[in-house]
Amino acid sequence: MVENALATKKTGGLAGVIAGQTAISTVGKEGIGLTYRGYDIGALATSASFEEIAWLLIYGELPDETELNHYRQRLMQLRTLPAGLKQALEAIPATAHPMDVLRTGCSMLGTLEPESDTHTQTDIADRLLATLPGMLVYWYQFQYNGTRIDTTSDEETTAGYFLHLLKDKKPEASLRRALDVSLVLYAEHEFNASTFAARITASTLSDFYSCIVSGIGTLRGALHGGANEAAMELITQFKTAPEAEAGIRKMLLEKQKIMGFGHRVYKISDPRSDIIKLWSEKLAETAKEGYLYEVSAAIEKVMWEEKHLFPNVDFYSATTYHFCGIPKFFFTPLFVMARVAGWSAHIIEQRKDNRLIRPDAVYTGPMPRPFVLLAQRG
Ligand code: COA
Repeated sequence: MVENALATKKTGGLAGVIAGQTAISTVGKEGIGLTYRGYDIGALATSASFEEIAWLLIYGELPDETELNHYRQRLMQLRTLPAGLKQALEAIPATAHPMDVLRTGCSMLGTLEPESDTHTQTDIADRLLATLPGMLVYWYQFQYNGTRIDTTSDEETTAGYFLHLLKDKKPEASLRRALDVSLVLYAEHEFNASTFAARITASTLSDFYSCIVSGIGTLRGALHGGANEAAMELITQFKTAPEAEAGIRKMLLEKQKIMGFGHRVYKISDPRSDIIKLWSEKLAETAKEGYLYEVSAAIEKVMWEEKHLFPNVDFYSATTYHFCGIPKFFFTPLFVMARVAGWSAHIIEQRKDNRLIRPDAVYTGPMPRPFVLLAQRG
C-alpha cells in the first residue's frame, strides 16, 4: 500500500503520464517547442491567421487560398444566433461570469441544433467557432447597455469580428492582428486539462456539445485558462516597475503563487510567451496605460531571479488584451473562442479510435468494515 501511495504522489496530477496518442500537436519537446500538425508555432503565429489554424487543426492540412476563402465565408454566414439562444442569453444575469455565458450558450445551442447525421461534428465545430464571439457580446451589450445587437458583420476574421462587435466600430489593423495572433497561440495545446476533459467526455460516446462544455468548465479555473484574468489583476496592482519588483518579492516570501508563471510541461520557456510579449510591447507604445508593459517586464525579471520561473502564454496575453481595450472578464472567454478549434480536433480524433478513458486510483480510505444500522450508531 505504501509503495503504491508513493507511486501516486510521484505522478500526482498525472504529471509525466502518457494518457494516449495524438497527431494534432506536440508540446515541450526538448523543453521548449510547440507544433500544430508538424508546423512550428513561431512560423504559424508570424504568417497564418486563426481561421487557417482552425482548418489545419480540424481538417489536418493547411487550406489553400480557395479553401480558406470558402471557410471564412462559411463562418461569416454561420454567425446568426437563433432566437431561442438569444432568449437564453438575455436570461443570464449581469452578475454572471462571461465563462458561464459561453458554457450556457454552448449548451443551449446543443438543445436547439443537436448533433445528428445531418448536423455533424464538423458542422458543430464551425457553428461554435462562428457563434461564440456573438454569444458573448450579445449577452454583454444586452445586460450592460440594454441593447440587442445584430451579430452579423462583414469582418472576415474572428479577431476582427469580436472587436467590431465589442466596440461597435471597425478595429484598428494592429489590434485586429494582435488578437488574431493570440487566437493562433491559444488554439491548441495537446493533452492540457480542458482538452483532456473534452476527450474524456468524448470517450463515453457523449455528444459534441457536451464535450465542448466539459472543456469550457475545465478551462475556467485559475490554474488553467483563468490565469490570464488573474495575471491582469496582479499587474494592475502596481503603478511602476520598482513597485512591482518589491511587491512580487513580498508575495514570493509569503509563498503566494504568481499567476501567469510556470508550466506543467515546458521546462525552459513557453514558446508562445515571447511571441505575445512582442505584441504587448508594441501595443504599449500607443496604449493609454502603456506603463503596464514595464510593470509586467519587472515582474518577469523578479520571477526569473527569485524562482527561475518564466512567463507562460497567459502573462503577456493579459496586457495585450488590455491594450486592445478588452474588459478583463473577457480574457478567458477569448481563450475559449480559440481553443474550441483544438478541442474539436481532439474530439474528432478521440472518436476515430475510441476507448473509454477510465484510470485507476490508489485507495487510501478505511479498511473493509461492517455496516452499522442507523438506530445503533451513536
Ligand atoms: N508562482 C510561484 N511559484 C510557483 C509558480 C508560480 N506561478 N508555479 C510553480 N511554482 C512553484 C510551486 O510553488 C512549487 O514550488 P515547491 O516545489 O517549492 O512547492 C513548484 O514551483 C512546482 O509547482 P507546481 O504547482 O507543483 O507545478 P505544477 O506542474 O503542478 O503546476 C502550474 C503547473 C501551471 C499549475 C503552476 O505553475 C501554476 O500554478 N502557475 C500559475 C497559474 C498559471 O499561470 N496557469 C496557467 C498555465 S499555462
